Amino acid sequence: MRFTTKILNKALSRLLACLVIFAGGNIDANAALNDGCGVLPTPQSIIRHEGEYSLRDTVCITFVHSPDLHVPSQSVLEAIVGRNAEIRHKSCEQAVNMANEAYRLTISGDGAEITASDYSGLIYALQTLAQLTAGHKTVDCMTVSDSPRCAWRAFMLDSGRQWQSIESIKKYIDMASMLKLNRFHWHLTEGLGWRPEIMAYPDLTSIGSNVGTRPGQTGYYTRTQMMEIVEYARQRAVQIVPEIDMPGHSEAALAAYPWASCAGKDIKIPETGFSDNIFCAGKDTVIVMLKTILNEICDIFPSEYIHIGGDEAPKGNWDKCPHCIKRIKDVGLNDSHDLQLWFAAQMAAHLKSIGRKAILWGDVMDSPGYILPDNCVVQWWNFRKNGDLAVRNALKAGHEVILSPNYYNYLNFPVTPWAGYGPDRTFDIEDAYLRNPMSVVLDKADPRVIGATCALWTDYEVTERMIDSRVFPRIFALIQIMWHTGKEISFDELRADIDRLRPFFESRGFSFGPAAASQPAEGS
Ligand code: ACM
Ligand code: ZN
Repeated sequence: MRFTTKILNKALSRLLACLVIFAGGNIDANAALNDGCGVLPTPQSIIRHEGEYSLRDTVCITFVHSPDLHVPSQSVLEAIVGRNAEIRHKSCEQAVNMANEAYRLTISGDGAEITASDYSGLIYALQTLAQLTAGHKTVDCMTVSDSPRCAWRAFMLDSGRQWQSIESIKKYIDMASMLKLNRFHWHLTEGLGWRPEIMAYPDLTSIGSNVGTRPGQTGYYTRTQMMEIVEYARQRAVQIVPEIDMPGHSEAALAAYPWASCAGKDIKIPETGFSDNIFCAGKDTVIVMLKTILNEICDIFPSEYIHIGGDEAPKGNWDKCPHCIKRIKDVGLNDSHDLQLWFAAQMAAHLKSIGRKAILWGDVMDSPGYILPDNCVVQWWNFRKNGDLAVRNALKAGHEVILSPNYYNYLNFPVTPWAGYGPDRTFDIEDAYLRNPMSVVLDKADPRVIGATCALWTDYEVTERMIDSRVFPRIFALIQIMWHTGKEISFDELRADIDRLRPFFESRGFSFGPAAASQPAEGS
């Protein structure tokens, strides 16, 4: 029924678009030509000049920057542009004064000149240069001026339900940087697997990373590997934001330390979804354990923002647990939802004491209760159930907000029904671009809405080798919304650039999935 409504809505909006064209509406000439500019996300402005630059094996790049700005290493730079590079520096005595992450890229007959006031701007200019030059013998002379719409632009990968190799993690960090995403939200813990090594609680990985029974469900990351990932990402202007999900989605941790659950007994690992077995919020030992884990996580990950989950935490066990009931009474809380807010507040206050912010999934905004500290950031996801309730309540309470509405930003939702995803949990690239509810929120330009995240969950066994086909090409619609600030880009223009850039992304090891086809096959 809902599927039919969705199809009807789509047909209606297409009809409306046609009516606008025939009524002589404000249609850009370029849109009618189905043209794009050959770079995604689309830069703010491109001004073409006379002439062209002949590309050889070695590209000449001049960085214009203030003397104290750290520049990308030769190896990172050459990996990004895909050619050898001859680097020159034009040091400006006074600081280059550009917006955060902004850049100017000028291509002349002598090569490329890049101006930026921060490291990210330099990296993004190189990414644009890579897209403009890949597979070509010459490139037109031009000036590209560019800066992002959203300060927070993230890709989330669920390494809890499925473990991915370090090589894969690096591959998707490369992808994030290529797409000018500046955060890699690393969902590290789930009911099906605890992945980060924690020295104070070694069984979290010795037991908790082995609770899954299917291929791809076992494995963990050592501290050294995670630090290597942080540095790899930093060099590509991407920050790793780790997530330790609590109190729910924690069955793997509770399998390792059953005393941390309410009943203190062995628990069953759910093959899909989540259970009532969540961290007990009544036991002080659990509070100490989780703060210790956060300390170790903060040692590894320098990110100002640490994600502490808070989604889908059923209260069946808390409502029966003498420790939780006592906590509710002692603190003077109303109920178990209030207890979750109190629990989140303890963790957030701890993070605040070590100079960090705490991101929480929007569930904590479902109804009012215990006041969260001001370093809490709310990540909206449950559009399907609650519309934009979490956004409205979070802004009312003065929190920063990140947008990830599940129908549109969850890249694991397939294009057509598949496995556990029914017809009402599918979307195509046009939906993601033209009918995304995050655009409605972003258009209001509230400065507390810091940006958006697109997410790749790995439930229903979205294995490592399936990630590309879920992500590409729908992610282009999402990064375009997060980044682009220039003239409006029609869906046809976006499509044209996706088609143009497809060989480039394929040459870098990314394969495109069914959303690339105009008629995707059933079950894809
Ligand atoms: C979520 O999708 N449970 C955040
Ligand atoms: Zn309890």
